[in-house]
Amino acid sequence: PSAGAAPLLAATYVLDDADGLGREFDGIGAVSGGGATSRLLVNYPEPYRSQILDYLFKPNFGASLHILKVEIGGDAQSTDGTEPSHMHYENDENYFRGYEWWLMKEAKKRNPNIKLIGLPWAFPGWIGKGENWPYDYPDITAYYIISWILGAKQYHDLDIDYVGIWNERAFSSKYIKLLRYTLDKQGLEQVRIIASDRLWEPISFVMMIDSELHGVVDVIGAHYPGTKTVQNAILTGKKLWSSEDYSTFNNDVGAGCWARILNQNYVNGNMTSTIAWNLVASYYEELPFGRCGLMTAQEPWSGHYKVESPIWITAHTTQFTQPGWSYLQVDGHLEGGGSFVALTDGLGNLTIIIETMSHNHSKCIRPPLPNFSVMPQRATFYLRGSFVSKKLTVSSVGACFTLGKVYMVETLQVWHSRLDFESGNSSLFQQLHPLQVWEGRFSLDLNVDEVYTLTTLKTGRKCGYPEPPPPQPFPSNYNDDFNIRNPPFSEAPNFADQTGVFEYFVNASDPGDHVFTLRQVVVQRPITWVSDADQTISVIGNFKWVNMTVTCDIYIEKPRDGGVFIAGRVDNGGIYVRHSKGVFFWVFADGTYRVTGDLAGKEILMKGLAGVRDNAWHTLTLNIQVRQGKKLESQL
Ligand code: GAL
Repeated sequence: PSAGAAPLLAATYVLDDADGLGREFDGIGAVSGGGATSRLLVNYPEPYRSQILDYLFKPNFGASLHILKVEIGGDAQSTDGTEPSHMHYENDENYFRGYEWWLMKEAKKRNPNIKLIGLPWAFPGWIGKGENWPYDYPDITAYYIISWILGAKQYHDLDIDYVGIWNERAFSSKYIKLLRYTLDKQGLEQVRIIASDRLWEPISFVMMIDSELHGVVDVIGAHYPGTKTVQNAILTGKKLWSSEDYSTFNNDVGAGCWARILNQNYVNGNMTSTIAWNLVASYYEELPFGRCGLMTAQEPWSGHYKVESPIWITAHTTQFTQPGWSYLQVDGHLEGGGSFVALTDGLGNLTIIIETMSHNHSKCIRPPLPNFSVMPQRATFYLRGSFVSKKLTVSSVGACFTLGKVYMVETLQVWHSRLDFESGNSSLFQQLHPLQVWEGRFSLDLNVDEVYTLTTLKTGRKCGYPEPPPPQPFPSNYNDDFNIRNPPFSEAPNFADQTGVFEYFVNASDPGDHVFTLRQVVVQRPITWVSDADQTISVIGNFKWVNMTVTCDIYIEKPRDGGVFIAGRVDNGGIYVRHSKGVFFWVFADGTYRVTGDLAGKEILMKGLAGVRDNAWHTLTLNIQVRQGKKLESQL
């Protein structure tokens, strides 16, 4: 594919396996959770839900991910919501809550070889016996995490491949060792441990001075490493992963970020796996980090979704490599800027991925990206070692002939993307004419902001479905009576819990018409990951609504200081939930009511007596209208 004017710069690169291979490749993946990032996906009607899952997981279809990492729900806020724990309380166990089990099964259905990782962001309160800390009783924490792994197998036939410690928080060497010991005792020797899902340090240093810890950690996972690692991490001799990365708005700059780090995490930092936060943006866009997923599916009510450009950037690597392949030993930096990696299955297959992302078109959310420049260039590759020749010796009676060189790679399939920031007409994951390899050599003219995959594999496909329905706002009239006998999920559609966990609850003994309910079930503050609110809250609907009526039958279970609210114009959630403003209408078990402008209840607008009591049903209605002629602000 060389056309146009002669490039300014020409350089040569050698791909040779004669002196052995580089590190083993462990796969490209994405995270669901951390938190509640797939919340709206589960409520998509078919066939759209399956289509989205195909784009993510189906081999040789779209992103064809190798790894799915999920949150082990801890009942606490973990970025865009809370995910339920399998053990809300000490003597509680339920492996059918939330949607991560379902998601893992859907991923496995499509790709039985997909690797699964579980990682907690938070823990239910009983783990810490009241302290906001999971390591005082490491045996309890290990039991809790291993229960999740055993439950995955027992109830869903899911084999968890890797388990992490505590997302972006402290680790405890004692706990990690006990986790390994307990895993082995439970027959889970094959489950590998990743630590510590934070920075390269202090875990690398501690592993260097603690040989027992070194023995039990299989993978050092760092977050947002900016494609670099540190000396200690390399010295451990362990696998190095970018176990969370990307987190960038999924437009073409996001795609550029993803293309650059997928290559350069290995080229600069020896990392053999990169995992995107997050898998699919399936949460209300106004929550924190809206649309920071590989694709967007945030409208189950319309069925609309969008296969964004990061999906096709993923395909450039995932469709032509597998965990267990090896990187070739190359420097990987292109002389005119950009990078390449080369991988082999050791059986003659070769895949080369080249990216020439420019600085401004490949910035990720973090860390800051030092300046660099990329220019058009001609790259000539020389294949050596097993890719170029095999000496064929034919022995016949009394003689031995060497038949000279046989070129092992004669053509390479070519897949190409060009992110076009001027016209916006990017071309994504297009198959071009195969490239002829002449005597183990080929050249390619590279432009800026391109990705090429050159591969011996002929299995690549850019698949698709007909356009999904057009986008629609959340229905302006919406109600739910929770009247469903065997709900497929523990949570009612479109409710996005932001503090606490709301679950379907069938109250069979209710004499009236409140047998089917949604119940908030977390009554002890969890070991939090961020600042959960002091009040529990689930949001639903449209952040743009101004005038509205909210009606809800409510039941206060807690006497004396128990209470319930309904609200409208709630402006925030996720990690900012504590600071949510809006119009909140509260009733309390002591018979009083309040209207406040904030979730914290500090900004009191009205208060008085309502005659509400605990352990009885009441109907609350909140009607919010902009007074004619007044501005919205003056209402609050
Ligand atoms: C990470 C965190 C994720 C998400 C992400 C947003 O640090 O692990 O859960 O919050 O940041 O960029």
